[in-house]
Amino acid sequence: MPGSAPPPEERTHPSLWSRTATLRSYPQLPGDLEVDVVVVGAGIAGLTLALLLKRAGRRVCVLEMHGVGTGQTGQTTSHLTELLDSRYHQLTSDFGLRGARLAASGSRAAIEQMAQLAEELRADCDFARVPAFLWAEDPRGLSELQREEGAARDAGLAAHLVSGQEVPLPFTTQGALRVEDQAQLHPRAYLRALADAVQGDGSHVFERTRVVEVKDGAPARVLTDRGTLVAHDVVEATTTPLNRLRLHTQLYPYRSYAIAARLEGELAPGLYYDLADPYHYLRTHPLPDGGGTVVIVGGEDHKVGEVSDTDACFTRLDAWARSRFSLGEEVARWSGQVIEPADGLPFIGLNPGGRHVWVATGFSGTGMTFGTLSAMVLADLLQGRPNAYAELFSPSRLTPSASAKDFVQENADVAYRFVADRLRRPDARALEEVPPGEGRILELEGRKVAVFREPGGRCHALSPACTHLGCHVHWNGAERSWDCPCHGARYSPTGRVLNGPAVKDLAAAPLPPQITDAPDPK
Ligand code: FES
Repeated sequence: MPGSAPPPEERTHPSLWSRTATLRSYPQLPGDLEVDVVVVGAGIAGLTLALLLKRAGRRVCVLEMHGVGTGQTGQTTSHLTELLDSRYHQLTSDFGLRGARLAASGSRAAIEQMAQLAEELRADCDFARVPAFLWAEDPRGLSELQREEGAARDAGLAAHLVSGQEVPLPFTTQGALRVEDQAQLHPRAYLRALADAVQGDGSHVFERTRVVEVKDGAPARVLTDRGTLVAHDVVEATTTPLNRLRLHTQLYPYRSYAIAARLEGELAPGLYYDLADPYHYLRTHPLPDGGGTVVIVGGEDHKVGEVSDTDACFTRLDAWARSRFSLGEEVARWSGQVIEPADGLPFIGLNPGGRHVWVATGFSGTGMTFGTLSAMVLADLLQGRPNAYAELFSPSRLTPSASAKDFVQENADVAYRFVADRLRRPDARALEEVPPGEGRILELEGRKVAVFREPGGRCHALSPACTHLGCHVHWNGAERSWDCPCHGARYSPTGRVLNGPAVKDLAAAPLPPQITDAPDPK
């Protein structure tokens, strides 16, 4: 299909979930269509919402640019937890005790929603209830945990401090905040069950269908490369919304890394987090057919486009994991995108200034939990029903004291990037300096060009200007992609959109005639 991105399974590093769950394929949009609700994005938020609305009698159409489960939900480590990235003492300070309690009870409700759907749909997704541990490795961390214990309990969590001897990790800790009754599952297997339940009876899941524009109004319209959809409401459940300018000043894209390796020692099932910044997170997962257990370790987060040697992130993560656990063969390594919101809580609700376009974004590192909660909130709002969490997560909320520091810093970074990346030294000055299978920013005759060389030798020359707002992309060697540091858009080596907010591919940049490409041996 012209303009469509390659399936993300072709990524350099397919996730554990891609390797252990096969999904059926869904059709492309066959042409124009009218439904009640269009949901853009077939991840956890989009498919859960579609199912809840279908059950409420709505005709829903889910559009996915790639394939079901190939977006960020397929790249998660799938912790279903009330232990949010924002600490409860911070949430209480920023949103009051009522806000912290709502954040906690919303997360609890989302876990129970996933448990219920997994059971109702008979999803073969290894859903398991496990405790969570936020552990401290030094005495200073222990005092932070003591402060967090009080705030977490006040917010309603079943949390208590345990001693280092009670933390089931195979290395020494000072203690941990233990939270009962959290959960984990196989995200792609769970999405498979959701998508199968959405499809049919007037509702649809369409893959390999790219949205190029969303037009608010009554009715709303969604323009795609396969036809136009008309609907009463449109929901952008796309990790980061498409081309929404105001909201992007409050959304900050990061990349996070994960490895899954065979566990040779013992580790009690659970969700584990340290207090480092950025933190490490881990859990176990059973391999299919009694194939043993892997431990999934995540961390090494950094702002998108900020690290040039992204392979080194995996190397550090692997070293960190092997220094603490007895690990065998690595089964998978992968990375994913995390969208941090300015004030620490996601944005769920009507797009600011909009009428019938809704958004769900800014889930931090708890995408499964907040993705499901988003669906629950939006399902109510789209049916005109009140929802207890809607006000707290409203995209139009004003939280200047909570968001000011990050807002100023992050947007200063975007402004800096916009200018500095145009002026920065190129990665290379000649085509011959681009190794096979790699990308580099070159300066050729005074202009910057993003060049990718195929393993066979052929070069693709692109404009490095991101088609969202024009920041310059950076090469991500680990994932073989062009990543935009400003709002997180990502492109394939040949410039096709992998992640929004961009909806257009990078423009081709023909090489000057006197600069010859290496011959393509094919
Ligand atoms: Fe906004 Fe690239 S994602 S400028």
